[in-house]
Amino acid sequence: MTKHQPLVVGNWKLNPGTSKEASELFRKISVATKKIDHATIVVAPPTIHIPAVARVQKPGVVLGAQDAHFEERGACTGSVSATLLSEFNVQYIIVGHSERRALGETNDQVAKKVKAVLKRRLTPVVCVGELERDDRGQFYTVVAEQLRSIFTVLSPQEMTKVVIAYEPIWAIGTGKTATPADVKEMQLFIKSTITKIASRSTAERVRLLYGGSVKESNAAMLHTEGGMQGFLVGGASLVPSEFAAILQAVK
Ligand code: PGA
Repeated sequence: MTKHQPLVVGNWKLNPGTSKEASELFRKISVATKKIDHATIVVAPPTIHIPAVARVQKPGVVLGAQDAHFEERGACTGSVSATLLSEFNVQYIIVGHSERRALGETNDQVAKKVKAVLKRRLTPVVCVGELERDDRGQFYTVVAEQLRSIFTVLSPQEMTKVVIAYEPIWAIGTGKTATPADVKEMQLFIKSTITKIASRSTAERVRLLYGGSVKESNAAMLHTEGGMQGFLVGGASLVPSEFAAILQAVK
């Protein structure tokens, strides 16, 4: 089995309010996580704060972005491309977050974005997850569809560069976390879905994260029992000590 270094991605969403605050928060996170060498740490500020944060960036915390258009240039009002983001040292790009899918982003568009990010040799962190759970297990079909739309347009080599973040929408920002058993089941399901589309060895190389109300208090159990390689963290990534504690939990 491929052994991955754990990966923890902080998604700041639309926080904090100013570039000055963003630089300060990034600096505090760098200090709080200084001793961590067992995991890759990524922070994704709002796009507009990325240049300011890039100026105070130190080795240790990698820069991420929350979205990128699939086009390189042209008639895409209000968008940025993966190429533009890479100018500021961005290495990871979150794609298909449920808050963007809720604005109308489709599986097809998500797949195109993944392609565009990979073309820039950056790492896409692709969010998948169901709106709600049902007793008949229909939510697995939703996740399988999301995975299929991405993996069927990639070469096996591209597939291995993708990070999948399982984020059940009902657990995002709600304080309701999936149980470690739910996470483990989904980890096995994602692996088997990718195995069917590609191969077992490819599936083993795709890194998987869990996201949805991850906190200092639940991170260790979710990590050890959930079987994922790390977390996508929203709210708790805005609190340096809590984010650092989550990183400790993936040791
Ligand atoms: P949360 O957000 O940790 O605040 O639930 C996770 C996410 O939306 O990526």
